[in-house]
Amino acid sequence: MSKKFLFILAVINLSHGHLVDSLVPSSIAKTNEHFIETLITHPIISSTSFVSSNAFAAAVNLVTKVPLAVSRAIGPIRLSSRISKTNNIDVVDKLISDFNAGKDNEDAIMSIDAIIVKYGYPVERYEVITEDGYALTLFRIPGAGPAVFLMHGLLGSADDYIVAGPDSGLAYLLANQGYDVWMGNARGCKHSRRHVKLKPSNASFWDFSWHEIGIYDLPAMIDFVLRKRNVATLRYIGHSQGTTAFFVMASEKPEYNAKISGMVALSPVAFMSKVNSPIVRLLSPGTSLLHEFSRHLGVYEFLPDNAIMNALKLLICGTGPLVIILCSNIIFIIAGFDFGQLNITNLPVVFGHLPAGASIKQFAHYGQGLISEDFRKFDYGGEENIVRYGVKVAPSYDLEKVVAPVYLFYSEADWLAHPSDVEQLRKKLRNVVDTYKIPYDQFNHVDFVFAKDVKKLVYRKVLKVISTF
Ligand SMILES: *[C@@H]1O[C@H](CO)[C@@H](O)[C@H](O)[C@H]1NC(C)=O
Ligand SMILES: *[C@@H]1O[C@H](CO)[C@@H](O)[C@H](O)[C@H]1NC(C)=O
Repeated sequence: MSKKFLFILAVINLSHGHLVDSLVPSSIAKTNEHFIETLITHPIISSTSFVSSNAFAAAVNLVTKVPLAVSRAIGPIRLSSRISKTNNIDVVDKLISDFNAGKDNEDAIMSIDAIIVKYGYPVERYEVITEDGYALTLFRIPGAGPAVFLMHGLLGSADDYIVAGPDSGLAYLLANQGYDVWMGNARGCKHSRRHVKLKPSNASFWDFSWHEIGIYDLPAMIDFVLRKRNVATLRYIGHSQGTTAFFVMASEKPEYNAKISGMVALSPVAFMSKVNSPIVRLLSPGTSLLHEFSRHLGVYEFLPDNAIMNALKLLICGTGPLVIILCSNIIFIIAGFDFGQLNITNLPVVFGHLPAGASIKQFAHYGQGLISEDFRKFDYGGEENIVRYGVKVAPSYDLEKVVAPVYLFYSEADWLAHPSDVEQLRKKLRNVVDTYKIPYDQFNHVDFVFAKDVKKLVYRKVLKVISTF
């Protein structure tokens, strides 16, 4: 058996076995229940799936370690009413042919800079070295107007801002308005897998979470842009982890607030207590153990094992013909998706650019937030916390220190930024200009990047807001 497979098995055993059970029994129970609940209400399961009850039960068992008899009892009974409603062959055929129509799109295999040039924009590329030695790539579509800095989410990269295509990609829309568009790339993503000493094959390379992205990567990239333009401030737009890291930076290095004339938070993630993503929930109870294990086995990059991926695909997406398409990407398994806003023809392009890489510790850190119901620094466990922080419990980020103007964009169906978690964040921040709820109920986490109507539903408003900063 491969090291990686053993590692995944160990994690799952620890996360859901008695070891963790004795530490956080109620959160595990809550997580399993929530997991099953999410599955049976998932749009793919309910409309286009044909899961056999035994296969479903076996997959629940593999992923959650509930006894097979229990998963059999939960699975088939509650799923059957939905399966009987499925008669969507025509719809499925249409979607598959839409997907195939996009397969030859060369944007799927072109690099981000080549795509930007193809659509008639200039592009520049820079390298920035962080204080702790990571070499980050910055992409720029130069413009004479104010500088706007875009920061991607977990498993994303600068590519996130162009995959929606020249009519909808946020980088293009900003460039069309004359802005000087800068796109960051966090350490560990495909454009920033270099370090002055460490190679990505060395586990130490992956020893970071979004805390380090917030305290090292963002300041280095922001200072670079300000120096290059010889200005004092820029506008910041972040999606998902691009907002988390911003809040880390602005609270840990408060002098950076003065360098931000305004910040737009798309799907802001700081408090995680209501997260719906089954994967984040599943990983959450054992995440510090998960981190421990990855350290022992030297596995730091987030590369889920095929056996687990296949079980998750089956659980989250079912076995219908569409699954091959929709659930072939980890992003959808983690963040969910929304049929109504999915441009199936554009999926080959999305799949060509995402996921872009991340460390296990980034997931682990998010998972900790789910259990602590707080926005805290990484929990290394009591003893190491005392060494690192001087206290036993990992300290909370001091959001009172975030004084740059912030505009929060959120949506009802977001699996990772639940409206009540966003509300909790709003209450803690000192300078929230306003909040904007996307006027479309099914809008999900990744819709902020490549939904069919992302321009109409989100970016028009973003452009308006950014012009006031
Ligand atoms: C990883 O990097 C550390 C620090 O530079 C070094 O001490 C260690 O030998 C490296 N490990 C491997 C396997 O290259
Ligand atoms: C869907 O994606 C295709 C291919 O990228 C594009 O040509 C088309 O305009 C997109 N449709 C919508 C509604 O955005």
